[in-house]
Amino acid sequence: MDLFDTIDSRRSVKHYDANASLPETDFQRIMEAAIKAPTSFNIQHWRFVRVRDGALRQQIRAAAWNQAQVTDASELLVIVGDARAWARQPERYWRHADAATRDALVPMLQDFYRDRDWLQRDEAIRSGAMAAQNIMLSAKALGYDSNPMIGFDIDEVGRLLKLPEDHVIVMMLAIGTATSPAWPRSGQLALDELVVADHF
Ligand SMILES: Cc1cc2nc3c(=O)[nH]c(=O)nc-3n(C[C@H](O)[C@H](O)[C@H](O)COP(=O)(O)O)c2cc1C
Repeated sequence: MDLFDTIDSRRSVKHYDANASLPETDFQRIMEAAIKAPTSFNIQHWRFVRVRDGALRQQIRAAAWNQAQVTDASELLVIVGDARAWARQPERYWRHADAATRDALVPMLQDFYRDRDWLQRDEAIRSGAMAAQNIMLSAKALGYDSNPMIGFDIDEVGRLLKLPEDHVIVMMLAIGTATSPAWPRSGQLALDELVVADHF
């Protein structure tokens, strides 16, 4: 599928065939696409919790306004960002670069993020969101549908996943085989309301 067609046909689908599965080869392909998204200083803050346990899915559904896609979709991913990723052996993000580049960039990124908790958190969310879009588009390209979700009790889901203190939940993604289409588009704003020339 052409990229623009994929973008156009990706919609948030809420109803999934609970008996359908997503072959592992497709899942791996989607995840390989996920981790090719860009991240600041190549820090790759994303972590992906693949929820496979049916009982856990039920618990998450209960914490997510009982939204059926949480249990019915073939895959449920909770995208998480590690806000401290910048500090965890950052040399490894540049291990294939030449030494001069690595030696310049690693201290630079440490100086950029140190003592700026808000930026560490923003960056974790930014990276996770980039990966989420790659996942949704590649799932669509392979014939699946998806639903990004933040309609859940974030603290409760964090507790269920044993989320580390310095990680943040970015969003959940349900991925699977649709049983009914997305609602019609509910109201895109016009481009000329959104694109500002030079400054506000
Ligand atoms: C961060 C985020 C959270 C969302 N949370 C939910 C959700 O909890 N439940 C749901 O049904 N849709 C959720 N949506 C889907 C939006 O309602 C949907 O993206 C929007 O209406 C535009 O429709 P489209 O994705 O089909 O183009 C979420 C979307 C995003 C990006």
